[in-house]
Amino acid sequence: MDRYLVFGHPVRHSKSPFIHTLFARQTQQELEYGLAEPAVDEFAQALCTFFDQGGKGCNVTVPFKEQAFTLVDRLSPRAKRAGAVNTIKLTDDGVLLGDNTDGAGLVADLKSHGVTLADSRILLLGAGGAARGALAPLLAELPSELVIANRTHTKAQQLAAEFHDLGPVTAQTYEQLAGPFDLVINSTSASLQGELPPLAPALIHTDIAIYDMMYGASDTAFISWAKQHGARQTMDGLGMLVEQAAEAFTVWRGIRPGTKQVLRELKRNLGVI
Ligand code: ATR
Repeated sequence: MDRYLVFGHPVRHSKSPFIHTLFARQTQQELEYGLAEPAVDEFAQALCTFFDQGGKGCNVTVPFKEQAFTLVDRLSPRAKRAGAVNTIKLTDDGVLLGDNTDGAGLVADLKSHGVTLADSRILLLGAGGAARGALAPLLAELPSELVIANRTHTKAQQLAAEFHDLGPVTAQTYEQLAGPFDLVINSTSASLQGELPPLAPALIHTDIAIYDMMYGASDTAFISWAKQHGARQTMDGLGMLVEQAAEAFTVWRGIRPGTKQVLRELKRNLGVI
């Protein structure tokens, strides 16, 4: 049977096996999908061993995405832009192809929630790996403006300069930000510590769409905060998780699974509904 897995550390709580098993059942694909948690300095060896032993493809998550970028034979254009690899496929001619489906997953999830990206003013919070992966797919949707704000302003400036050729992207400090924005995407890891990015409450209005790439069984700190300040449309990163997985599954198997039912089952599994 074709073998796939996700590499990460820690990875024990990953929902990827659950999601891909449902995709395989739905599309009647014969495959198995597992977990691998190599020590941080043993990822390269573990990756080699997996493919030597007949593995067909894998996902890569924190903290290995940047390392995977350097280990594959070939990169897709979107992985090259993201500077990170979250999906690897062994091609029929024995080449390890590195791809990145995170940004496509974000855009697909935003669209499935009915969020309009064309001609919109987007505020992206954070300038780490998650922000980098989102930039090209967001700019491809032709927003009128995309502003990056980050605690360490120089990192936002660097990112804006790097992606400037793809669209109207600028960097501003949190203090400089002037609304109205149509969509705020939180790519910071602040919610992991229950913290908030230092965003002025005045930027939140009833018609704004709020997206937090993090997720949990209850609202993230950022989503709770935005709701308190009047945001009516809030979304967490669970849909992005399922959509990036669907994109990876499509890369591997050449068949696109449906995501709606799988997202519902995942929510049930997490106790969200
Ligand atoms: P990831 O790969 O998830 O993007 P990362 O590369 O470590 O992770 O980036 C984390 C991002 O969250 C950074 O933009 C970080 O800001 P700094 O560049 O200033 O470190 C941001 N971040 C983390 N905690 C934050 C907090 N409490 N408030 C605001 N931004 C925060």
